[in-house]
Amino acid sequence: MAEFALPKNSKIKGKGRSFKDPAGPGRTRSFKIYRYDPETGENPRYDTYELNLDATGPMVLDALLRIKNDIDPTLTFRRSCREGICGSCSMNMNGRNGLACTTAIEDYKGEVRITPLPHMDVVKDLVPDFTHFFAQYASIQPWLKTVTPDPSGKERLQSPEDRAKLDGLYECILCACCSSSCPSYWWNSDRFLGPAILLQAYRWLADSRDEMTGERLDDLEDPFRLYRCHTIMNCANVCPKGLNPAKAIAETKKLEAERIL
Ligand code: SF4
Ligand code: F3S
Ligand code: FES
Repeated sequence: MAEFALPKNSKIKGKGRSFKDPAGPGRTRSFKIYRYDPETGENPRYDTYELNLDATGPMVLDALLRIKNDIDPTLTFRRSCREGICGSCSMNMNGRNGLACTTAIEDYKGEVRITPLPHMDVVKDLVPDFTHFFAQYASIQPWLKTVTPDPSGKERLQSPEDRAKLDGLYECILCACCSSSCPSYWWNSDRFLGPAILLQAYRWLADSRDEMTGERLDDLEDPFRLYRCHTIMNCANVCPKGLNPAKAIAETKKLEAERIL
């Protein structure tokens, strides 16, 4: 796969620093990491850290934690669950978006280059600004919307067959690996919702209990919000949960077409 573009504020001109592992020599691997602190007014740069893999856990997130804990506490990144559930540690590793906690260092030969998710503003170092992404998520009203009273007075039941229609959708962890790999989203993220949010929108269209399908389709029927997807498919190739946002988008376009016919 072609390398993705760098973050929006990525004019890398600063002179990078190099660090050695205090654990001493061993099986060594070099990590070249994007550094940017807008408060300093300096340009972004790459710092290089030589890590002893014998003193480091197996995943890329383990390498980042070792750097932060033992070598350079100024390195900034997000993480929480360390098992592919929270979506916090999404970043670009050797040109491909993914989760640092589920990506093994051994998957790479040679130097590992780490940058924030492409084409997003950077808060600091490897932390992208998700403000706009989550505003777009809120805009699709991601909750069950109904107009009728629930039949049992307690809960809305769903058949196992209808529940199965949510498989491949509910697992999305909103990591934005897909959206930040989509060229249409790079160029039109102000108006195009992007694959992650469109997959989430389809999750509610596909839910047999939701009673706002027409309103939801009205909201998406727009040359930019939905139709800026040009089936480039990076989203499906890169999703660390194995989901297929392109398919969810195609299903949504089908629903839009069917109600016109
Ligand atoms: Fe992440 Fe996949 Fe959800 Fe996109 S669809 S936000 S890549 S989990
Ligand atoms: Fe983008 Fe995926 Fe469509 S990469 S253009 S959202 S198929
Ligand atoms: Fe939660 Fe990686 S730390 S997904």
